[in-house]
Amino acid sequence: MTVRHTLATAEATRELGIRLGRLLRAGDLLVLTGDLGAGKTTLTQGIANGLGVRGPITSPTFVIARVHPGLTGGPALVHVDAYRLGGLAELEDLDLEESLEDSVTVVEWGHGMAESLSDSHLEIVLEANPETEERTLVMRPTGDRWDSLTTDLDKDDAEERPC
Ligand SMILES: Nc1ncnc2c1ncn2[C@@H]1O[C@H](COP(=O)(O)OP(=O)(O)OP(=O)(O)O)[C@@H](O)[C@H]1O
Ligand SMILES: [Mg+2]
Repeated sequence: MTVRHTLATAEATRELGIRLGRLLRAGDLLVLTGDLGAGKTTLTQGIANGLGVRGPITSPTFVIARVHPGLTGGPALVHVDAYRLGGLAELEDLDLEESLEDSVTVVEWGHGMAESLSDSHLEIVLEANPETEERTLVMRPTGDRWDSLTTDLDKDDAEERPC
């Protein structure tokens, strides 16, 4: 099952991230795909907010993986930017398996590599519209874990929870 969202502004992308972050739990693996500037880090900022982890979430030039500890007893967020990684071997060198079970792991540019970390993962593809700020976000879940999550996210949409 794929789920599609249209996000008019960076704020809308962050807001969806917040709602998603609230539903995530330790062991979850998200693989974010999309061109430079598509909004992967912006979405991750929302996820971090929803999860309640220490920020800031940035796109550092030289740091490939960063651990953001939970602030309220929840899991840490491990934020990985695989853009500069040469391949699977280098991703494996990061030992993400070590932290996977106890953390929420978000890998930007991980397509084709990070999926091997876990049978269960949520791929999120962001696509920019060349004429507007609008982004199209598509979720492609692998594994049972995500069925309820994508439904809960839609339920939440209807409620229009303030954040
Ligand atoms: N609807 C939108 N959703 C997300 N970002 C948007 C949107 N509209 C405009 N933006 C802007 O686009 C930029 C997205 O940058 P961001 O760093 O999130 O992209 P990225 O996919 O992580 O890029 P990179 O591949 O370089 O890591 C930000 O400056 C953000 O403010
Ligand atoms: Mg980024």
